[in-house]
Amino acid sequence: MARPLVPRVPGLCFGGDYNPEQWPEEVWAEDVALMKAAGVNLVSIGIFSWAWLEPAEGAYEFGWLDRVIDGLHAGGVAVDLATASASPPPWFSHAYPDTLPVDAGGRRLTYGSRQAYCPSSPRYRAAALRLAEQLAHRYGEHPALAMWHVNNEYGCHIWSCYCEVSADAFRGWLRARYGDLDGLNHAWGTAFWSQRYTDWAQVQPPRATPTWGNPTQALDFKAFSSDELLACFTAERDLLRRLTPDIPVTTNLMPGHAVLDQWAWAREMTGPGLLLSADHYIVAENPLPGPAQVAVAADMSRSLAGGPWLLMEHSTSAVNWQPRNLAKPPGQLIRDSLGHVARGSDGAMFFQWRASRAGAEKWHSAMVPHAGVESKVGREVAELGRHLAALGEVAGSVTEAGAAVLLDFRSAWAQEAPSQPSGDMTAFQEVGRWHAALYAAGVTTDVAPPEADLGRYPLVVAPALYLLTDAGAANLSRYVAGGGTLVVGPYSGMVDEHDHIRPAPLPGALSGLLGVAVEEFFPLPAGATVRLDNGAVGQVWTEVAAAVDATVVARYLDGPLPGLPALTRRAEGAGTVWYAATRLADGPLGEFLADLAGSTGAGPVLPEAPPGLEAVRRRQPGGQSYLFLLNHGDEPARVAADGVELLTGAQARGTLEVAAGGVAVVREVHP
Ligand code: GLA
Repeated sequence: MARPLVPRVPGLCFGGDYNPEQWPEEVWAEDVALMKAAGVNLVSIGIFSWAWLEPAEGAYEFGWLDRVIDGLHAGGVAVDLATASASPPPWFSHAYPDTLPVDAGGRRLTYGSRQAYCPSSPRYRAAALRLAEQLAHRYGEHPALAMWHVNNEYGCHIWSCYCEVSADAFRGWLRARYGDLDGLNHAWGTAFWSQRYTDWAQVQPPRATPTWGNPTQALDFKAFSSDELLACFTAERDLLRRLTPDIPVTTNLMPGHAVLDQWAWAREMTGPGLLLSADHYIVAENPLPGPAQVAVAADMSRSLAGGPWLLMEHSTSAVNWQPRNLAKPPGQLIRDSLGHVARGSDGAMFFQWRASRAGAEKWHSAMVPHAGVESKVGREVAELGRHLAALGEVAGSVTEAGAAVLLDFRSAWAQEAPSQPSGDMTAFQEVGRWHAALYAAGVTTDVAPPEADLGRYPLVVAPALYLLTDAGAANLSRYVAGGGTLVVGPYSGMVDEHDHIRPAPLPGALSGLLGVAVEEFFPLPAGATVRLDNGAVGQVWTEVAAAVDATVVARYLDGPLPGLPALTRRAEGAGTVWYAATRLADGPLGEFLADLAGSTGAGPVLPEAPPGLEAVRRRQPGGQSYLFLLNHGDEPARVAADGVELLTGAQARGTLEVAAGGVAVVREVHP
């Protein structure tokens, strides 16, 4: 079996954020007893404890935390100890108001919430490091310490700051990127609208302007802001690695919250002594169904980790931060958790252990709800604990994916900037929609950047790659020539890394590979659709695309461009590349990708799976495989399976029935 992700917690991790400082000490012993009863083996503590750990500058109070950690240890619960840097206390912000973040309009935000710090502030960074150092000295040798949890959800609320300190740091970042002002003026295209800079002192963050600001400036500021937060993380990470080299370090990413360049973050979050963790919450108003949201978030987390990862937070039922906070019906808690485990999480952790009585999150669900553990949530938490204990041998195994969907953060940021041909040409959502189409077809799909080594995937899809570097374009050509099947969505390959339109023929970076030359865009009005002569339907976008060196597979029947190509195909080397010049509607997109997945061998995992039955396979490096079966439907589902069903111990010989809303995990005999 592979080395556990968290060496001090063998098997799968189970627990959540634990905030004992919100409760009188009498409750702590009950907490540990309830954790033991539920099978909890890991809790995250101290995430928002700075005000308690350092109540005045340089005055540390660890007595209470000693008692919490000792109590947990006595109960057999390991600790994911936070560095508490996510929320500086009022005394700090009051004494050093220059550490508070400033928004694009020049308004300085204040404390009384959380994450009220400027990521570039040297004073904030130094204070965070001092606290982390104290914690490492105090608890580095404690036997309960299983891992470090640096900060919390970097960028969740404050992903950038526009203050003078940040402006200076931004100028430094730009100098390193462009060398001199000529380089900057060229990259930002400042010949436009009299924006030319003649002195570095004139260069600012993209603060509020009368109308559209410079798009490349905005793009660089996003990348800079991601790097600044990353520098906060790596500073704490490096200190902890130096002081406690045996304790793994993580921070919890939010795969669905794309303000960070998560590929760049993943490079700093993986490797010896590090582990990648991520949080996920289902959003009621997301157009994707809940299970598809879980799948794409988990697949993204696994792809960032390059293997097993840890679900650090999700919810037992409703959250508190959406317009309408939908509770989870019976069974969903377990399906969501095992959905993440199926897709590579070596555990299931929650926000939070005990529901808060006060504060902005008092109506957020928890493992111990306000109603107590004799409740739907309490019983399902205990059941999940038993399931995770039964699945210990799955830890370290690798989820098998047959396809990859490409995502580039800089590209998506650029595509979603203002003053584009159509405001409906979303990028992040489109990646999710194509992922969901493959999910519905039963195909497990990785997420990858365009420069990744794609050779192991029979099918790669690129729904929205507006900005594509030369290296990315060359990689895609190599992939196809080597025998891969690539599907490219419209408006891809249009601009270079500075967001400058590439020379004709468009799409400049991909025209040769696709064998297509685009002359003019004809975006569609809101809600309009076009029919294609192969029965498909397009939406959002059409364009005048000539098939210069490609086969036309479908043409428009109506809309602004009847008779022109809508879908093309071209053979290149040993592979095939497809180009969709319109956004195929959900139904035809699903059929198209399902067909391609089938013909290329990308999937599905279980060819005969009934609708609503999700099947995902994990495999140990040694070869043992585990088939995860989640029945999201209202009817029992019978599937082909051979082996031991680990949650019940039952033997599956040829077939297995998964109850409506139920879950099963089979240790397969014939992988
Ligand atoms: C995030 C945070 C938690 C909590 C939850 C609520 O994930 O990390 O502290 O606020 O959201 O859903």
